[in-house]
Amino acid sequence: MEFFEVLRKRRSIRRFQDKEVPKELVKKLLEAAFLSPSSHNKRPWHFIVVDDREKLQKLSKAKPGAAGLATASLAIVITADESRSDVWIEDASIAAEHIHLAAVALGLGSFWIQIRNRMHGEGKTAEEYVRELLDIPENYRVLCIIGVGYPAENKPPHGEEVFEWEKVSYNRFGMPFYWG
Ligand SMILES: Cc1cc2nc3c(=O)[nH]c(=O)nc-3n(C[C@H](O)[C@H](O)[C@H](O)COP(=O)(O)O)c2cc1C
Repeated sequence: MEFFEVLRKRRSIRRFQDKEVPKELVKKLLEAAFLSPSSHNKRPWHFIVVDDREKLQKLSKAKPGAAGLATASLAIVITADESRSDVWIEDASIAAEHIHLAAVALGLGSFWIQIRNRMHGEGKTAEEYVRELLDIPENYRVLCIIGVGYPAENKPPHGEEVFEWEKVSYNRFGMPFYWG
């Protein structure tokens, strides 16, 4: 699939078919993550692939907005070693987006579940909840989870409506870009 077609077709898919994603495709998703750039090439990430149904069910309760994980075939939990990089958020975000885009190219659907800075409920962060469930060491921060599977919903590709040209300036903030 051509790169811009992948970009247009990338939508957040939150309902999935009851169908296993072959291991080769899971491997491809992780290869996409490992192809990410990272600051000083520190590569601070660690990815946890979860396909255990009980754990997926529990992850779907990590916070409001994670419910789609209940039908996902798998989840990739995106973590990074905070002690290795002061910009682990950026590094991990890029890796997560690589997975999100690679899923489209492989005929899969996926969605981003924000974990960092979100609450599980009163008194417990979503990050603490996920950390406990998956035995994640203290120095690894949990950025997000990418839920993956074969789509059970059809969303149209993005079109011209996303092109917010008014959010582009030329040479100084607020100066409209001249397209010629
Ligand atoms: C940083 C970030 C956090 C997000 N968190 C969630 C989330 O917790 N749950 C969810 O269902 N979608 C989440 N999304 C997906 C957005 O809701 C989605 O990308 C947006 O509505 C645009 O729709 P589209 O992805 O189909 O283009 C998140 C996306 C980003 C980039």
